[in-house]
Amino acid sequence: MNGSVLRVYDDARALAEGAATVLAARIREAIAERGWCFLALAGGSTPRATYEEIARRTGGEPELWARTHALWSDERCVPPWDLRSNERMAREALIGRVPLPRAQVHPLRCEGDPEAAARGYEDLLRELLGVAPRLDLVVLGLGEDGHTASLLPGSPVLGETTRLVAAARRPGEPHARVTLTLPALGAAALVLFLVSGEAKAPALRRAVTGDRDLPAARVQPSHGQVSWLVDAAAASLLELEGES
Ligand code: 6PG
Repeated sequence: MNGSVLRVYDDARALAEGAATVLAARIREAIAERGWCFLALAGGSTPRATYEEIARRTGGEPELWARTHALWSDERCVPPWDLRSNERMAREALIGRVPLPRAQVHPLRCEGDPEAAARGYEDLLRELLGVAPRLDLVVLGLGEDGHTASLLPGSPVLGETTRLVAAARRPGEPHARVTLTLPALGAAALVLFLVSGEAKAPALRRAVTGDRDLPAARVQPSHGQVSWLVDAAAASLLELEGES
């Protein structure tokens, strides 16, 4: 697992609670060490319970959120009120429940021109973090096909070596997507994958054993760490040390 960390929680609820503990600790750590935490949020459904839990625990801590910026690791190019919007999910589960200053929330709006949105978001990353943006914390999910963010298997975006944000498409979807690229994810200090459910077990096994056909397996921060926070159902195909 090339130096990454794997934590297995009993079930989805325990995963949400454990991931909230890790996330809160790493936000505090980034603020203590660097004065700020630049956090990129994942979409999909898995992170929702974790976002709700961390909001429950830290909603009364303005000093924590005053030093945090929220960004997204990817977005579907739909309006922010659309049920498919990653922004909508994060606002409902987290951002609307914590005292995070509006100016420190950076949605990835791309309903118009995905390519222009990608360029604009990359400009924002460089404006916030300098010429070589290094996010403190990136939350990611894992698709059953091994995708992460909007980096899909076989996507030409996987070959991107310089751009930090790119337009993407998931076959069969009516809308485009915009995603952080492998260079952007690879520059992060910490990547937290949240994976839940038996349906993800085959992809998780392939990802943590380094099957590079899976985009998730190619997220390997050069000067950072990957932590896999998973529940037992997702881990059911892993050969864990100490298991008989
Ligand atoms: C998205 C996400 C995507 C997601 C995985 C897992 O926009 O869809 O960025 O990468 O994390 O598809 O989704 P679930 O958590 O819903 O299983």
